Amino acid sequence: MANAIQSSTSATRGLEGVVVTTTQLSKVDGTAGRLYYRGYSIDHLAKNASFEEVAYLLWAGHLPNASEISKVREDLVACRTAPSGLVDALRKVPLNAPPMTALRSIISLLGHYDPDAEDNGPEASMRKAYRLTSQMATLVAAFDQIRKGKDPIPPRQDLNHAANFLYMLTGEEPSDIASRALETYLILLADHGFNASTFAARVTASTLSDMHSAIVSAIGTLKGPLHGAANQRALEQFLEIGDVENVKPWFEKAKAEKRRIMGVGHRVYKVVDPRARYLRQMALQLSGTTGNPQVLDIALKLEEVVSEDPYFVERKLYPNVDYYSAPALYMLGIDADLFPTLFAMSRVVGWTAHVMEQWANNRLIRPRAQFIGDLDLPWVPLEERP
Ligand code: SDX
Repeated sequence: MANAIQSSTSATRGLEGVVVTTTQLSKVDGTAGRLYYRGYSIDHLAKNASFEEVAYLLWAGHLPNASEISKVREDLVACRTAPSGLVDALRKVPLNAPPMTALRSIISLLGHYDPDAEDNGPEASMRKAYRLTSQMATLVAAFDQIRKGKDPIPPRQDLNHAANFLYMLTGEEPSDIASRALETYLILLADHGFNASTFAARVTASTLSDMHSAIVSAIGTLKGPLHGAANQRALEQFLEIGDVENVKPWFEKAKAEKRRIMGVGHRVYKVVDPRARYLRQMALQLSGTTGNPQVLDIALKLEEVVSEDPYFVERKLYPNVDYYSAPALYMLGIDADLFPTLFAMSRVVGWTAHVMEQWANNRLIRPRAQFIGDLDLPWVPLEERP
C-alpha cells in the first residue's frame, strides 16, 4: 500500500531519529561529519562555488553552465530592489525590535507585493525563490540602516550577492576577503536536511498554503536560541567570558549552573560539524585582517576546554555551525543581533527549495501524538465544582 500506516504507540521526543520523508536536496552525515548539497560535498562548494551557483544547484538540481549562471546572476540582481511600500513599512517597526521579528513581519508583508503570491506552480515558485533570496538581503540591510537613523542604501547591480549585502550594510564596497568570507558563510548554511525551520516550512507547504507563509513559519522557527539564534547567543557568551584567562573558570561555573554552552552540540552531528571547521578557518583568516582576535581566541580556548570535559565527550557534544559563525560574523563587523537574520538570508535558499520539493510530490504532513490524559470524565455542573 502506497501510504502504509506506520503507527507507533510510543512518542519519540523531538522526533529524534524519525525519518519523515525522502529528499534529494542535502545529506547530513552525522557520523562522518559530512554535508552534501545535491550530491556535491560542501568541501567542493565552499572552496570553488559562488553563492549564486549553490542557490541554482539547490533550486534546479544541477550546477549551472556558463549561460545559466549568467542568467541566475542577472535575475537575482534584477529583483534586489524591494517594493517601496515595504521600506515605508520597515520605518513603522519599533527601532528596538529584534531583527528576526522585523524580518518575520516584513517577509509576511512582502507576500502582498508579490504578483505570484498565490501561484504555487513550479515557474511562479522559482520566481518567488529568487525574489525572496534577493529581497531578504535588501530588507535586512534596510532595517539595520533605519534602526540606526539612516536611509536604506539602494542595492548595486555590479556586486555579487554577498558583496552587495555588505555594501548595503555599510555604504562601502567590501574587501575581497570580506566578500568571500560572507559568501562562504552563505554557501555553508544554505541547506541542512530536515532541521526544525526547514521542517516548519514543509509542514506549512504541505497544506498547500503559499510560499511566503512557509518562509514566515521557517523564520519564526529559526529565531529560537536552540536553532538559528545560537550564533548570537554564542557571541554573547564569548563576550561575557571576556578574556582567554577567564574561559576555564567561566566554563566550570556554567557547568555547575547547568547552562547550555551555545554553539555546542547537535541533534545529528556526533562529531565536529563540518561547517564549523570551515567557519573556524574563516575566522582565523579574518582575525589576521581585522585585528580583533580576542573573541576568536576565547572561542578556540573554550572549544579546547569543552573537548576535554568528560560530560561533553560522553555526549559527543562538539562545536556546531553557530559556534564559529559568531567570531567570523563579528569580525566582519556585523551586529550580533543581526546574526540570525544572516542565517535566514542563507537558509531561505534551502527553505524555498524544500517547499518546491514538497509540492512536487505533496502529501499533507500530519503526525500523531500518544494521548496520555484522562478519558470519559463525568460532567460536573458549575455549582458543584470545588
Ligand atoms: C542549528 O538541526 C540542524 O541541522 C540545525 C542546524 C542547521 O543547520 O539548521 O545545524 C543549525 O540549529 C545548530 C544548533 C544550534 N543550537 C545551539 O548551539 C544551542 C546549544 N545546543 C543545544 O541546546 C543542543 O545541543 C541542541 C539543541 C543543538 C541539540 O539538542 P538535542 O539533540 O535535543 O539534545 P538534548 O538537548 O536532549 O541534550 C542531550 C544531553 C543533555 O544532557 P543529559 O540530559 O544527558 O544530562 O546533552 C546535553 C543535555 O543537557 N547538552 C548540552 C548541550 N547540548 C546538549 N549540555 C551543555 N551544553 C550544550 N550545548
